[in-house]
Amino acid sequence: MYYKVAPSVLAADFADLGNQLRAVSEAGAEWIHLDVMDGAFVPSISFGMPVIKSIRRVTDGVFDVHMMVEEPGRYVEDIKNAGADAITVHAEACRHLDRVVNQIREAGCRVGVALNPATPISVLDTILDQLDMVLIMTVNPGFGGQKFIPYTLNKVKALRALCEDRGLKMDIQVDGGINAANLREVLEAGANIFVAGSAVFGTDPAARTREFTEIFKEY
Ligand code: DX5
Ligand code: ZN
Repeated sequence: MYYKVAPSVLAADFADLGNQLRAVSEAGAEWIHLDVMDGAFVPSISFGMPVIKSIRRVTDGVFDVHMMVEEPGRYVEDIKNAGADAITVHAEACRHLDRVVNQIREAGCRVGVALNPATPISVLDTILDQLDMVLIMTVNPGFGGQKFIPYTLNKVKALRALCEDRGLKMDIQVDGGINAANLREVLEAGANIFVAGSAVFGTDPAARTREFTEIFKEY
């Protein structure tokens, strides 16, 4: 199993975005998490294609776009063209999830589906084998800096067990309230891609990134 930290740009200083991304990439972050919010699926509005396109020049990292957008199928092509390598959509935001999953695949991106804390993993039962990644939200989406919701850990465990039963090599991503203090517990539950916003950006994002990669070495 490999483990990756995916710093969430949402928590970065937008006036200094290029330098901050360079710093976390050089410190060992191979993934960059990009939260696109539409003010409808979630209350907040973040950023979209133009920002993703500009920062694409700064790093070769995996651009992992988390679409907190109603009917994200409308934007798959544009997000891909802006520089996405992986696109994750919320099951709750897609009336026709199968269609959107296929759209992402056809665009040539890695396919992820996200579940809000209250959404059971059983909604993915029929489509699991078509996904590269499942994002188990560990907070309610919409804002950085929230507190990790403990019961989501049970979903991570159950999903890892289900994937093992079915022989699926799934990436399980967690997002929300992840930090160096709870990382081991979430990793041991079965997650392998760790989004971190406020735990990375702030003072010394490079050093904060290395705290994550150092913990990975224990496993
Ligand atoms: C929340 C976003 C997260 C957010 C995480 O809706 O999906 O990616 O940036 O921020 P922290 O790590 O501060 O909880
Ligand atoms: Zn996110």
